[in-house]
Amino acid sequence: MSLADEVLKKTDIVDVIGKRIPLVLKGNNYKGICPFHNDTSPSLTVSPSKQIYKCFACGASGNAYTFLMNYEHLTFKEALKYLGDEVGVSVGNINIEKKSKYEDLYKAYEFAVKYYQNNLASSDGHKALEYLNGRGIDSKLIKEFNVGLSLDSKNSLTSLLVKKGYDYAKLNDIGLSSDNRDIYVNRIMFPLTNVDGRFIGFSGRIYDSKSDNKYINTKEGPIFKKRELLYHYHESIEAVRSSKSIIIMEGFMDVIRACSVGINNCVALMGTSLTDFHIDLISRLTKNIYICLDGDPPGVHASMKAGEQFLDKGIEVKIIELPNPDDPDSYILREGKNNFEALIDVASNFNEYKIKKLKEDIDSKSSIDVSRYVQEVILQLSRIDDEIRIEIELKKLAKEYDLSYNTLEKQLSDVRKNKKVEVSSVDINKIVPLKKRKDKYTKAIEQLLYLMITNEWVISRVASENLLFPEHEQRLLSNEIIYYYKQNGRINIADFITHCISRDDINGLLNEIVSSNYTDKANEEEVLELFECIKNYVRKMQIENLKVAILKEVNPLKQAEIANKIMKIRLGESIDD
Ligand code: CTP
Ligand code: MN
Repeated sequence: MSLADEVLKKTDIVDVIGKRIPLVLKGNNYKGICPFHNDTSPSLTVSPSKQIYKCFACGASGNAYTFLMNYEHLTFKEALKYLGDEVGVSVGNINIEKKSKYEDLYKAYEFAVKYYQNNLASSDGHKALEYLNGRGIDSKLIKEFNVGLSLDSKNSLTSLLVKKGYDYAKLNDIGLSSDNRDIYVNRIMFPLTNVDGRFIGFSGRIYDSKSDNKYINTKEGPIFKKRELLYHYHESIEAVRSSKSIIIMEGFMDVIRACSVGINNCVALMGTSLTDFHIDLISRLTKNIYICLDGDPPGVHASMKAGEQFLDKGIEVKIIELPNPDDPDSYILREGKNNFEALIDVASNFNEYKIKKLKEDIDSKSSIDVSRYVQEVILQLSRIDDEIRIEIELKKLAKEYDLSYNTLEKQLSDVRKNKKVEVSSVDINKIVPLKKRKDKYTKAIEQLLYLMITNEWVISRVASENLLFPEHEQRLLSNEIIYYYKQNGRINIADFITHCISRDDINGLLNEIVSSNYTDKANEEEVLELFECIKNYVRKMQIENLKVAILKEVNPLKQAEIANKIMKIRLGESIDD
């Protein structure tokens, strides 16, 4: 048994998924809201006996590993390590990487990171190191964040990568070069990683010169997607899990500073605004979300906007307020970790924060201002789901502006009534495409493949029957099942999914089959019926092909030969070519 199978055997998928989303037992299976699409009724089924999950609405399916990979954005190796730790199996340093079609681009970035790190460590890096140390970024942090240095050197990154076989167009395309030369010259290089922790870009900062651009960031490209980027996301997952909270900051210097004092559960927006993608990523990890942007007016404005965006998704964040014009970097540097943590402790819920900020702007003697303010507070209260808190807030408001509690309550219920008719916004990324209707042949083929994975005796029948599946992907999957069974002498779905984890050529079909509602129980007779159905289909296809061949053929003798073949197929005889 492989290590991955051993870990999976000791794992209970119900625990793994149940820790992340609520599951309810229904019959033999558990049901829950599917986290992989915009689910409203529980569409996710978790099977304790098969140790798999599937969603009948969006078609997501797999075992405990694939769940963690998709839900927590882990690589297979990380999911294995995580589950291994949970069940007490030491996983050590195994080498299974999921290969991506962008592998060579990631490799170019890995090389670039090393190249820049070498520069910083060389004698040419002296001044940059001085700058970094001057900002309190010591060698430990430089290593942790893979900080490097770009130079103005003959041995440019571009020329080295070209020597390694990359072409100029590709290097220009992924933002390492421009006009066939290095983009980054004399900048301190901060590597950026994607949700899987792979290097995909850089932010290069000036340090010993004046330039209009303090930072140069990687441009949009095949692997660098600005709206998906959150600095330090992948690296923070562990800390977010243990602290059960996350802090969103503005710049990567803020994150580096926070980490330097042991606050590792933080990510940075990199100066852009928050996207739905970010919200999705973050809220999957934890619902306990803090926003700590700069203390200047643009920072306050951005906090307001980000808080609203989370609220639109039903999540109330907390706002950590910094004095103007601090950012987390400058604040922690000056005031220290304890004072920063004190600010975290007194962070206000977004609604309170918003009401507080609104209040700062009004003239309490102006009835127009007060009315506007009260309306706004009521609007905010209509968005929260805590009746007790609402009553407290309304009472406060009534007292403060000498208004009747009933008036305020009526206002609130009016706002609530109006809100009900508002059409809720739909996240287009999560719209589930309608499943194509399958013809009876496709269904028979998929049913048979499913039976092969769930019933060992069916595998031998398929193998001895020499059954030919009509499509390439089906043949690949069938061969893989037979091969797996021969190698291991047994098969079950959960382990077979692990076996196929990096097989992009069969995963689509496997997923389709597992997530559909095929039966895992069949007798001899039913299996034979499936064989017949599939053979009929193959015959039908052969005849269609031969009919086309007749039309193309000019030689009457050859035409007759083909017609004869067609007849033989119709009679069910084997044709020998
Ligand atoms: N940023 C950028 N280009 C700029 C300015 C900012 O890309 N010209 C992005 C960077 O990702 C930066 C973030 O916006 O991390 C926040 O900007 P800022 O607050 O100016 O950066 P600091 O973290 O304060 O950087 P430093 O302290 O080094 O000046
Ligand atoms: Mn800043």
